[in-house]
Amino acid sequence: MAEAAKWVRVAGVKQVAEGEMLATEAGGRKIAVIHLENGDWSAIENVCTHAYALLTDGWLDGDSVECPLHAGRFDVRTGKALCAPVDEDVATFPVRVEGADVLIGLPD
Ligand code: FES
Repeated sequence: MAEAAKWVRVAGVKQVAEGEMLATEAGGRKIAVIHLENGDWSAIENVCTHAYALLTDGWLDGDSVECPLHAGRFDVRTGKALCAPVDEDVATFPVRVEGADVLIGLPD
C-alpha cells in the first residue's frame, strides 16, 4: 500500500457499528468503510472488480465481504479476491481513527 498523500474524514466512529459497513465517497472514488467485529477498521474500493456492484450491498462475514451480484468474495483487510468469479483485487486504503472521526488515506 502506497503512503497516503492526504487524509479525509469519511465517517464518525459511532456511525458504523462493529460488523457493519458504510458506503461513502472520497476523492471521486466509491469507498466501503468497514468496522470489523474485533473493533478494527478497514477501507476498500466499494465497486466489485467483476461487474458493477457495490460491495456494501453484499454481506460482511468476518474478514471477508461477499458481492451481492455473483457471490465473489474479497478479504476486507487486504482487498484480495478470494474466489471465482472475482480474480482482481480491490484497492485498499489506510484507516486512522482520530477521536470521533474515521479518516482514510487517499493516494495522489
Ligand atoms: S459483480 Fe461482483 S461477483 Fe460479479
